[in-house]
Amino acid sequence: MKHLIVYCHPNPASFNHAILEKVKETFENGKNEVRIRDLYQLDLDPVLKGKDLMLMKEGKVEKDVEEEQKNIVWADTITFIYPIWWTGLPARLKGYIERVFTPGFAYAYTEKGPEGLLKSKKVLILNTTGSPRERYEAMGMFKSFYNTMDTGIFEFCGMKVIGHEFFSAVPFVSQDHRADMLDEVEQIAERIA
Ligand SMILES: Cc1cc2nc3c(=O)[nH]c(=O)nc-3n(C[C@H](O)[C@H](O)[C@H](O)COP(=O)(O)O)c2cc1C
Repeated sequence: MKHLIVYCHPNPASFNHAILEKVKETFENGKNEVRIRDLYQLDLDPVLKGKDLMLMKEGKVEKDVEEEQKNIVWADTITFIYPIWWTGLPARLKGYIERVFTPGFAYAYTEKGPEGLLKSKKVLILNTTGSPRERYEAMGMFKSFYNTMDTGIFEFCGMKVIGHEFFSAVPFVSQDHRADMLDEVEQIAERIA
């Protein structure tokens, strides 16, 4: 299987980076092909510009976007690894989605309304939060994330979300708890490897 990992975190010492390493190792152990797009290391401009909008109308994209679209076309499964920042996607990842998931590539408007074009792609989302799980559950925040991320972005583009997991209160938990969370990451990755 061809696994693309889209990773968004600036700090190589972060828990998100530990998740990235665990997922990569697990996929590779399963003899899968793995490609990583580290959004803080890429040349991809994360800001959608007027030029992008003009090109979109002509069904064209800039070279940096084309490169990312090729990686999506290549992949069977795309795993997104990122922290929740201000109750949403980190800005760089939001910019990646805005520029790479273009009309004509990721979705199209038809007489029946919008139609996703990436129907063969499966998506796994792994998120970390600073907030404790109970607080976000009580606020209905996870439901909001499923709506805005799974439904609003990936399913809108026709992709099948095969998992969306949250690792909570990351800055406050013990090393033992972190190790348990990484075991859970490994099990999730093994299931889809
Ligand atoms: C700019 C910024 C915004 C954040 N916003 C949220 C938030 O809205 N909700 C939340 O639970 N945690 C928030 N956090 C905390 C991070 O989600 C948390 O520190 C991170 O998931 C821990 O993983 P890491 O060690 O890999 O960074 C925020 C952190 C930063 C730096």
